[in-house]
Amino acid sequence: MSPDNLPFSPAAERNAPPILSELERLLPARGLALELASGTGQHAAHFAAALPAWQWQPTEAEATALPAIAARCRHLPNVRPTLRLDATANPWEGMPPEVDVVYSANLLHIAPWAVTSGLMRGAARHLKPQGLLLLYGPFIVEGVPTAPSNLAFDADLKRRDPAWGLRPLAAVLEEARHAGLRLRERLQLPANNLLLVLEREPTAAAGP
Ligand SMILES: C[S@@+](CC[C@H](N)C(=O)[O-])C[C@H]1O[C@@H](n2cnc3c(N)ncnc32)[C@H](O)[C@@H]1O
Repeated sequence: MSPDNLPFSPAAERNAPPILSELERLLPARGLALELASGTGQHAAHFAAALPAWQWQPTEAEATALPAIAARCRHLPNVRPTLRLDATANPWEGMPPEVDVVYSANLLHIAPWAVTSGLMRGAARHLKPQGLLLLYGPFIVEGVPTAPSNLAFDADLKRRDPAWGLRPLAAVLEEARHAGLRLRERLQLPANNLLLVLEREPTAAAGP
């Protein structure tokens, strides 16, 4: 696959630098990150290039997306071969058993609620104690007026699939709590997006 011919997401290109600024602040010097829903692979390539002491494991549920992710990251020695992973699977077969970070951007609202549950449980199974689950995207925050652009996006998602839509932050955090993950930081990023920083409780059970 030619590097000039890869699928490209303008949104992923725009949001990568502000997310990276937070990663640089939050992450220790080195570690292993497991990314879910890598999409075009732009985030994997951007972050792995900027954080060379980190190993990056891209994954995608959509098998047809894998070759482009691999092609985009081919020049980066710290990006592992792209793997197929559906967040709802249990177990997450073939994934590194212990990771420092699980990262996913713009997944929870473009998938049924089972993906949120699966992601939380899988992250709790694979994160080291006090490892971080980082979730980027738009959410509905109780008591905070939702931006008109996010309301329109939510309506459009629900038209495309009634099981999709922006997730209420409280419900997401409740699901996280059940899995043994607690909110450490809620960061406001540009264009009405949040970066949720969740930490695996030292005692979190790696149950189903
Ligand atoms: C809007 S794209 C986001 C891609 C990328 N993370 C980004 O920010 O540009 C949503 C991605 O979620 C993936 N996806 C959908 N359902 C999934 C699931 N059950 N498990 C893992 N990934 C899934 C899709 O294949 C798609 O690549």
